[in-house]
Amino acid sequence: MILLEGKKLSDKIKENLKQEVLELKAQSVEPCLAVILVGEDSASATYVGSKAKACEQCEIKSLVYKLDVNTTQNELLALINTLNHDDSIDGILVQLPLPIHINKDIILESINFYKDVDGFHPFNVGNLNLNLKGGFLPCTPLGVMKILEHYDIKLQGASVVVIGASNIVGRPMATLLLNANASVSICHIYTKDLKAYTKNADIIIVAAGCPNLLKEDMIKEGVVVIDVGINRVDGRIVGDVDFENVSKKASYITPVPGGVGPMTIAMLLENTIKSAKNRIKK
Ligand code: GUN
Repeated sequence: MILLEGKKLSDKIKENLKQEVLELKAQSVEPCLAVILVGEDSASATYVGSKAKACEQCEIKSLVYKLDVNTTQNELLALINTLNHDDSIDGILVQLPLPIHINKDIILESINFYKDVDGFHPFNVGNLNLNLKGGFLPCTPLGVMKILEHYDIKLQGASVVVIGASNIVGRPMATLLLNANASVSICHIYTKDLKAYTKNADIIIVAAGCPNLLKEDMIKEGVVVIDVGINRVDGRIVGDVDFENVSKKASYITPVPGGVGPMTIAMLLENTIKSAKNRIKK
């Protein structure tokens, strides 16, 4: 079994990105990411903190807007509008989930899609679905693709099962895999017989937010397992996979923590720098 060490790969990517930032700064472009956090969800606050810290490591400027949980939708839209028109800002990220009185779809659509480094704007989602290049791709699925590429795991013709159909991970993940010529099944909470899918899969990507969802009796020998889950259980962070037992049968598997999570952040930085480079092209 080979561990897919996302953390190590992300460190290497960040080293390279830092060089690119220095080159941009030499051309008077200072890449800048604006992150908006509404409310006090502790997991979200941790993620936002990690994103800001990673920016600092790569010498990318970050602006973190921490808004009160009672912020209105119009107030949030006004802030996004200001950031949309500020030429010194390359990326805008609104941390999800948002409080229930705010319509996330309206918020995501209000972000200038040229600054949509999360890749959640309908235009960027459309580009991905049409397999058109040039838009922004969502960070977690993109990070998974980079891990698969780095470890030379072939996708063309592979049977891949994606567990989870969220807009943030499952759906864009399945589309990226399809665009890479994999044969993809998307399973979700209403799937009748999950094991019938996972048993035959060459690659399984689990993004369900459910500890121990994927067990040893559900997989074939030699499968590649990517665990996107981040769950807090008894003060420990665990994924969606029964790592101890599944790792005995898998050929490759991501650890949690230290697998997909750090790659998500590295891809956010990569998207921010891609956006900053567009400033030079304009
Ligand atoms: N919440 C969980 N994952 C993400 C992400 O990748 N981006 C944003 N904006 N919010 C999230």
